[in-house]
Amino acid sequence: MTELPADLGAAVRRLAEGRQGLSDSSQRISEHYRQRGASRQVIGGADDAIAYALSRMPATYAAVSAVLDEVQVRAPNFAPRTLLDAGAGPGTAAWAVAEAFEGIASTLMDHNRSFLELAGHLAEGTALAGAELLKADLGQFELAKRYDLVTCAYALTELSDAEMLVSAERLWRHSDGLLAIIEPGRPRDYQRLMAVRRRLIELEGRVLAPCPHQQECPLTEPDWCHFSVRLNRSREHMRMKGGTLGYEDEKYSYLVVARPGIGASAPGRVLRRPEENKFSVTLALCGADGLETRVVPSRNKPAFKAAKRLDWGDATGSNLR
Ligand SMILES: C[S@@+](CC[C@H](N)C(=O)[O-])C[C@H]1O[C@@H](n2cnc3c(N)ncnc32)[C@H](O)[C@@H]1O
Repeated sequence: MTELPADLGAAVRRLAEGRQGLSDSSQRISEHYRQRGASRQVIGGADDAIAYALSRMPATYAAVSAVLDEVQVRAPNFAPRTLLDAGAGPGTAAWAVAEAFEGIASTLMDHNRSFLELAGHLAEGTALAGAELLKADLGQFELAKRYDLVTCAYALTELSDAEMLVSAERLWRHSDGLLAIIEPGRPRDYQRLMAVRRRLIELEGRVLAPCPHQQECPLTEPDWCHFSVRLNRSREHMRMKGGTLGYEDEKYSYLVVARPGIGASAPGRVLRRPEENKFSVTLALCGADGLETRVVPSRNKPAFKAAKRLDWGDATGSNLR
């Protein structure tokens, strides 16, 4: 289970100390995001930004980390030296990237001053200490530089359909290597991500993950492509969320698009939790030829063993036959 890096968790707790009402703010903020509200209506000051870091940052961090794990498998030679984290909030994705790619130089961009200030405080004395903080709008920014890696986590969801496409084009233009977009795992956000996917393919992007192909997504409503990551809930996190479970499952959808020559997409992807009994494992797969339900019988021992190891979201190889 993914957790926030120890120094980040400690910095959030330190900044939260002595502030009253954070638990109420956290619950209000989580509810606001559940209702698809935008950050600007709910993050108006330092306390709100800290409440976000306490309640939502562990989950968005876990989702971004899961996507970066996949990036490292799909593109093992990719060694980015510069990052633009757009819609950075408190710097969640930049933290996950700094864990995955040591020594990367980070630029954190957001239009919310309270978030940027918090990002700056959290970065003090850590691997993100030299990060550049930029106040800019996703739909209008134009930077002189291009970045090896561009991330945009849980931010496009806050834009209208038209703004989202314009912003995605800008993000892509600013990326020299990979663009990773992570969104909430809801049908609406998946549908919109597919519009972004179409547009980026038109702009000669290659989809590295999660899709094993560059064709239209074969899923039809009410199905949608999304994944899940389990994260530990710390004591503060449980208090903020008002829950008793020691973990939570964060659902997300994502898209990693690459410039030519970077990495290779997987032959297949597991789209749901596999069903297993003593006789077989049943896998819902997306592959180069579209959707497939593959039943792997226990009598095919090597394939059965390989299938039993697979989970929702995993890439598949040629070892299932
Ligand atoms: C839900 S938060 C996600 C923050 C962070 N990326 C994470 O994953 O925890 C959405 C972020 O997008 C930013 N955002 C939304 N619309 C934006 C825009 N038009 N320009 C720049 N930032 C924007 C918000 O200010 C907020 O920081």
